[in-house]
Amino acid sequence: MKKILIATQKPFAPVAVEKMKAIAKEKGYAVEVFEKYAEQADLVNAVADADAMIIRSDKATKEVLDAAKNLKVIVRAGAGYDNIDLDAATANNIVAMNTPGQNSNAVGELVLGMMVYMARNGYNGKAGTELRAKKLGIHAYGNVGRYVAEIARGFGMAIYAYDPFVDNAKMQAEGITPCASVEELYSTCDFVSLHIPANDKTKKSINFELLNKMPKGGMLINTARKEVIDEDDLLKLMGTRPDFSYVSDIAPDCAHIIADKYEGRFFFTPKKMGAQTSEANINAGIAAINQIIGVIEDGDETYRVNK
Ligand code: 3PG
Repeated sequence: MKKILIATQKPFAPVAVEKMKAIAKEKGYAVEVFEKYAEQADLVNAVADADAMIIRSDKATKEVLDAAKNLKVIVRAGAGYDNIDLDAATANNIVAMNTPGQNSNAVGELVLGMMVYMARNGYNGKAGTELRAKKLGIHAYGNVGRYVAEIARGFGMAIYAYDPFVDNAKMQAEGITPCASVEELYSTCDFVSLHIPANDKTKKSINFELLNKMPKGGMLINTARKEVIDEDDLLKLMGTRPDFSYVSDIAPDCAHIIADKYEGRFFFTPKKMGAQTSEANINAGIAAINQIIGVIEDGDETYRVNK
């Protein structure tokens, strides 16, 4: 019987795991659940006899993939696959995939939730501000960006987006004002929500020059990856712009400095929470199981991300 390893340091909701197991069992696959492991070395050992593996933000390094002698497919149950060494996957003849869109609504809801929390001063009793009629910029109008726009529309926000890969006509048809450049997006919008992937081109691309273009009272909401922020520049901006606040789903490396100096101007989730809902876990988990079976049984490589 072929074995699917579900390796999640941050576990899926139990209901999602039950559903994943049921589908796998029906198709004749065994499932091993390997949760909350302490060390990367534990993952290296656990993967040794797996035919397929499902991960979340777990690190599928070269060491892990080299140790996975039977592995045919690895699925990142989620959107960002910057945690998979794609070259190592290719070198080991492993198909690497993600499950785009499956957890996007959960992330979108968190964006608006964190915006309200910050705009109301963390519910500390002081008068805050409202989102209605404010300008929201969506930096990358993909699956998550679309959900953010849909929810923000309900708040009565004016929505802008910058995404060189999406047609302006498509954005306009969805009630979005497209910006011609990333600079235009940041200089126009009171709030900017980040949805770019972390790769060689985007890492540290959100810098002082860009953030300093934001209007007075500007807020950056990061549910993408901490690596896309230039943290030296972020600290410089926090120091020179007392009106600016930063919200991130997972703390930046410089969180302790921000926490010491800039009380009330930041919020960081203790663990990445964007996709952490039962619904998102069920959607992404089931998609991952079905994609694995699709690769192994039918050679279906839709959503493959390595070459
Ligand atoms: C994603 O890329 O899909 C999100 O960042 C979710 O990550 P998680 O599965 O670790 O919660």
